This record gives sequence, C-alpha cells and structure tokens, in this order.
Amino acid sequence: MDKNLKDKTTKLIDDHGRHIKKLRLNLLDTCNMRCMYCMPEDQKFKPLEDLLSPIEMKKIVANLKGFGIEEVRLTGGEPLMHPQFKEVIKELSKLKLKKLSVTTNAILLDKHLDFLKDHNIKDINISLDSLRAKSFAYITKKDVFKKVLGATLKAKELGFNIKTNTVMLKNINFEEIEDFLAFSSKYDIEVRFLEMMKIGYARQYFDRHFVSAKEAIDRVSKTWTLDQKQMPQDSTSFNYIAKQNDSSAQLGFIASETQPFCSGCSRLRLSNEGILRPCIMINEGPSIRDLDVNGYEFVLADLINKKPIERLEQTIHQMNEIGG
Ligand code: 5AD
Ligand code: SF4
Repeated sequence: MDKNLKDKTTKLIDDHGRHIKKLRLNLLDTCNMRCMYCMPEDQKFKPLEDLLSPIEMKKIVANLKGFGIEEVRLTGGEPLMHPQFKEVIKELSKLKLKKLSVTTNAILLDKHLDFLKDHNIKDINISLDSLRAKSFAYITKKDVFKKVLGATLKAKELGFNIKTNTVMLKNINFEEIEDFLAFSSKYDIEVRFLEMMKIGYARQYFDRHFVSAKEAIDRVSKTWTLDQKQMPQDSTSFNYIAKQNDSSAQLGFIASETQPFCSGCSRLRLSNEGILRPCIMINEGPSIRDLDVNGYEFVLADLINKKPIERLEQTIHQMNEIGG
C-alpha cells in the first residue's frame, strides 16, 4: 500500500476530505413499535442467533477506534430490546470513547436509566412522533404515549442530554409543530424534525405525507423568531433557538431529502452481524466480524471511498435493518 493511502486510512479521511469519526451500531432489527414510515404491522425480524456478541462488538469498535472512530451511537430497530443490552453497554464503555450514545423509542427506557447513568451515557435521542396519545398510537401502532413521555421527562430530570426526533407527516403530526416548540420551551429539551426519507416502507407515503424542512421553518416563523445556531461541519441537523415573548425553544431539522449533508458526513454503519456499510443508503459492505486487525487498513481504505458524495435518490431496504 502506498504511503499516501496509508496516511488517509490511518486517519479515515476520504478522497473528498471527509473525516470519518462516528459509528452507528445497529444492535438488532427487531422493534416493539411499527412506525408507519418504517415498517408494516406484520413485519418479521431476523432470528436473534447470529448477532455479534458484546465481546465481538467491543473488539470491532476497539479496532475502529484505532483508525479514528471517536463516537458510537447504538441504534436499531430498538436497541433496548437487545437481549444483552446491558452487556453491550458494559463492554463498549470500557473503550472510553469520546461519546457512547443511544437512539431509542423509549418504551423500555425507564428501567434502564440508572444503569445508563452509571455507565456514563449522557446523550439519548428519543423518537417522539406526536404529543397526542391518539396520533402517537396511529403513527407508531403502539398505545404507549404516556410511557414514552414519562421516560423522556424522567431522563431529562436525571440530567441526560435529551433530543427528540419527530418524522414530519403532513395531516398527521405536522399540525403539532407549535406544540412541540412549547414542549421544548417548557422542559428545555431540543426537539428535532426529520424529513421523511425515501427508504423502504416510507416510499409509499411520500406524495401524501412528506413535509420539507423549509415548509416547517416557514410555518414556525409566523409565530416564533428563529436564530440559527452554529453547528459542527459534520452535523446532520441545522438548529435554531426559537423565541416567542418570554419563551425560548431549541429546534433542529434533519433535512435528509431536500438538503442532504453527504458532503460533511462523518459516519460508518456497523450491522448486528458485523457488516460495515459506508452509508445509510447502501446495503452492501464487507463483513469485518472475523477480520484480523491487520486486515482493517485495506478494508477501510476501500470502504471510505465508497461513501457517496451525493444523496442516492432512494433505497428499498428498511430503516430498521440498517439503523436510523
Ligand atoms: N425517514 C426519516 N426518519 C426515519 N426514521 C425511521 N424511518 C425514517 C424515515 N423513513 C427515524 C426514526 C427515529 C430515527 C432512528 O430514525 O423516527 O427517530
Ligand atoms: Fe421501531 Fe424506530 Fe422503526 Fe419506529 S422508526 S418502528 S421505533 S425502528
């Protein structure tokens, strides 16, 4: 391998100057919700037999850390449903990463909060698609709004850094956007609105329910004053402080469809079977489950140059298979 390639790989910098330093680790595809934009109600999941063990995860992440991966976010499906979730946290927290965080639908969060706190997890992103029990159940197909809200507020009280994720859906939850701002202001929680991505099951809802970030900003700006915040170059969201009289809210948008952030993307994705993928839109990647540490350099050099520089239009695989 020539020296130039070695230097790039060692730092995980691709040909477009993107510095890869974050890993999304999809713990399992199984979920206890059936969000309408994510999967059908009769969704079948992969058997739990072939999943990476917590020790294997630690080994892989330790190797990737050697190449510059600094932060790991655990996703799913629903990561808290992993049968060895606590072991996963225990093992990964030994690696002293800059950040180890979780994205969850919060159904099982309440009983994990103390454990997460004890293991120095500070950041939790919670999917919260509605503040109304009926709409929440309609979108997620689970009548658990109270439980999710309760766990969200408890996590905030315990001092976690909480962000909520809401996939914007016209005629379903978009009309609640001002309620979310009031919620943010009341509880000092950052609320983030996601454009529905053209991934798998969501594609059928595009014409009926897609809302762009611009549309949302135009709407909110009628009643709130928005000040844009400076964000790191690889941020997926653009954020605002919203003000209205004496109220102040924290608002973010992830505009994956209309303003994709590929040119600043700093991520790789690891599946629960040890497949490393360069992008959420790409289904293929090498298996690194049994890869010797000496093999990483070659595999990573090849992989980071497969990271698309522009948003691929759509993909048929489902979000829960690849990790949101
Ligand atoms: N578009 C945008 N966001 C999605 N999520 C799941 N499917 C989609 C989609 N098609 C979100 C979830 C969760 C995060 C992990 O990904 O709502 O907040
Ligand atoms: Fe589960 Fe998340 Fe998919 Fe909803 S979006 S069904 S919570 S994996």
